[in-house]
Amino acid sequence: MAMKKKLIKILGDAAGEIVSGPEISSLLSISRVAVWKHIKQLKEMGYDIVSSSRGYALDAATSDLPMPLYFTKRKESIHYYPTLTSTMDKARELARSGDPHMSVVIAEEQQNGRGRLNRKWFSQKGGLWFTLILRPHLPPPLAYQVNFAASICLTRTIQQMFDMDVSVKWPNDILFKGKKLAGLLSEMETRGDMISFVNIGIGLNANNYPGEVEPNAVSIRNFMGKSIHRRTLLSNFLDHFEETLHCHIPGPADHDLKRSGVQKNNAHRSNSFQRGDNQEPTIISQWKEMTSTIGKKVTIETHGEIFQGTAMDVDESGALVIQQDDGIEKKIIYGDCFHQKLPTIEKELKENKKL
Ligand code: BTN
Repeated sequence: MAMKKKLIKILGDAAGEIVSGPEISSLLSISRVAVWKHIKQLKEMGYDIVSSSRGYALDAATSDLPMPLYFTKRKESIHYYPTLTSTMDKARELARSGDPHMSVVIAEEQQNGRGRLNRKWFSQKGGLWFTLILRPHLPPPLAYQVNFAASICLTRTIQQMFDMDVSVKWPNDILFKGKKLAGLLSEMETRGDMISFVNIGIGLNANNYPGEVEPNAVSIRNFMGKSIHRRTLLSNFLDHFEETLHCHIPGPADHDLKRSGVQKNNAHRSNSFQRGDNQEPTIISQWKEMTSTIGKKVTIETHGEIFQGTAMDVDESGALVIQQDDGIEKKIIYGDCFHQKLPTIEKELKENKKL
């Protein structure tokens, strides 16, 4: 793999220009036949390499594949696979073997994609299926902050890039016109009383047609009427998310600094995950600004229990507060939430702000 990485770097540095076979073979000190074999394998891995009698070129402009090479800042932390059982499985393996904070595992296709509550997640080609390995310096009960931060950042990225009117549904779905555009799944391991890693899996219907398998789902392509550039979307999201984590959630570097006694200049950081006592909105309050759950009649399914009522609030611990039909309030910390469809007249009144 080391040789392929070097080859990809040579083609990447040429920024779309053709590099001849003899030049590559001399730079890598391998035969031209070996160059040809590596190119063939890279093409099989999905890299968009154009071969001609003059040599080889990487088609960075036309390929939207989220492959490591294309991420100038993050090459080392992006792991791309044409097919995986699930990016969650691979990410867990990498996290256990020590891969750092903000590593990303992407698959073009998943054979066994997983959703929340052990559901199957259909993961055909064209979607954006990835898992982030995160190492926040937090105790396990605060892990939910990272999930909510990811939902906020993905929502904003989609809103900004495509001008889509998307909202978040408790706990971690992204909806467009009531249909599911993206879902988030997290898995965590702890060491002592702190998080060792929390992996956040994101399934975003980008260029796929989810409606073929799941009538209540929609993709960005369905809305835009054309394919979108997944790599730009992922890159924008990662930049935005990293910045948000930096502002709100202590990362591994903060832990190292604390241990070494160094004071970091963090005047702008809110630490809002703990206090919510300063000007900057907390993660939860930002999330509440973009949710379509609060105010809705909802049904919540957990493992073995079903609750119904009106969603009143999401508290600072991320729990959904519902008022049940008997008037009793209940806090729910996990589960799958279904918005009840409003009858048309009620919906119209609500849109006209008369409700
Ligand atoms: C849900 O809404 O139920 C969560 C869906 C999460 C799907 C993503 S796709 C990438 C990652 N790998 C998986 O197997 N699942 C998550």
